[in-house]
Amino acid sequence: MLLVVTDDGRLLLHHRDDKPGIAHPGCWAGFGGAVEDGESVEEALSREVEEETGVVVTDARLLVETVDAEGDGRLVSLYYTVGGIRPDQIDLREGAGVGVHSLADLDTLPVSPFVRRAITDHLAPLLTALARTACEPDAGPAGRRNPPAAADPLTAANPPGQYATDRNLAARQRLWERQEPAFDVVAWTLRLAEVGAAVRVLDVGCGNGRYLDVMAAAGVAAVGCDLSAGMLRSASAHRVVAADAMALPFASGRFDVVLAPHMLYHVADRRAAARELRRVLAPGGRCVVVANGAGHLGSLRALVEAAVDQPGWKWADRLAAAFSLENGGDQLADAFDQVACVRPANPGRAVVTDAEVIAGYVASVADHYGQDLPRGWDRVVDAVRSEASRVIEACGSFVVEGDVGAFVCS
Ligand SMILES: C[S@@+](CC[C@H](N)C(=O)[O-])C[C@H]1O[C@@H](n2cnc3c(N)ncnc32)[C@H](O)[C@@H]1O
Repeated sequence: MLLVVTDDGRLLLHHRDDKPGIAHPGCWAGFGGAVEDGESVEEALSREVEEETGVVVTDARLLVETVDAEGDGRLVSLYYTVGGIRPDQIDLREGAGVGVHSLADLDTLPVSPFVRRAITDHLAPLLTALARTACEPDAGPAGRRNPPAAADPLTAANPPGQYATDRNLAARQRLWERQEPAFDVVAWTLRLAEVGAAVRVLDVGCGNGRYLDVMAAAGVAAVGCDLSAGMLRSASAHRVVAADAMALPFASGRFDVVLAPHMLYHVADRRAAARELRRVLAPGGRCVVVANGAGHLGSLRALVEAAVDQPGWKWADRLAAAFSLENGGDQLADAFDQVACVRPANPGRAVVTDAEVIAGYVASVADHYGQDLPRGWDRVVDAVRSEASRVIEACGSFVVEGDVGAFVCS
């Protein structure tokens, strides 16, 4: 069954006929029907959706597999698609109608119970994030307008605009492309996790799909999941699912390897997330959680603090305070029997010869730190750019230390 999500975070649903013999008569649900002999689930989905609506869907992503417990007890694979289908494109050939409904509308509508559960448990974070993004004015590069201080723990660690697209993440990835000696954190992590072709992998907080790209090239069957609609769009070449690490929409024991690279520090309840990472891991499987250590970004930190030029202001890294190589082990220890912190022999350092790369990195964290400063983050970015240019001109490069490692958990 396909759930159609609109760009502004609502659902384009199918109104079922109210006729005898129909499961969940008069309820709202997605589009689709049963798998026929010889068809895969994906083939059945595209055929059924085209038969019912006249629309060909090519980018459906798996949301969750669930049981229609109140209906015929069958296992239903629920898929979703974002932004590709408008109501006026639908030439409805089956059912009573279509309608676009917000998450809040669903409280007062009859919805097939398994569909309601799937939306509430697995699609709600995506719908909320899309609705929020649709209401916000464009924040400009890297969220320039310095949004107001975030109040609740979830947004403090994961400001709403930070991952609306992969622009901020890509700016930070650009810095680490310039390493000497080269250190490939993705290859290192996949080796630690012992990822091979026959291994079922879940990449939690998959972002723009850097790990998924490498695994796809190696023929590994990996599924990615992320809370951000923008990130899911950037990783849509792969099998990706909208999900919160604190409530993973997968059966227990479903994966041989679970990865959580550079993401747990964004999660409000990290102990709950660790229990979820453990739950979906098969017996004998391993989970690898990548994080940064206290030495990460040392020289860049000093550059930013000098640029802020405000007595006593420190680049207090809220993410490292939440989860780092120093404090992460304890947070994982409740969920796993064994947790080992592993550091690479040489985590590399970025040797940067273009001040724009440094400025881009600093701009990408505007929404974490800009609200601390009455004069705004743009001025800090400009001062960082000037000072980095001066150092590059004088010394040939600006060097940024990396301190990255991982917890191997089983
Ligand atoms: C720093 S990026 C890392 C992306 C990728 N793992 C990598 O290393 O390139 C953090 C990612 O975690 C995602 N994220 C944050 N909180 C999450 C949560 N509670 N559940 C799932 N993903 C989450 C963000 O949307 C973002 O894509």
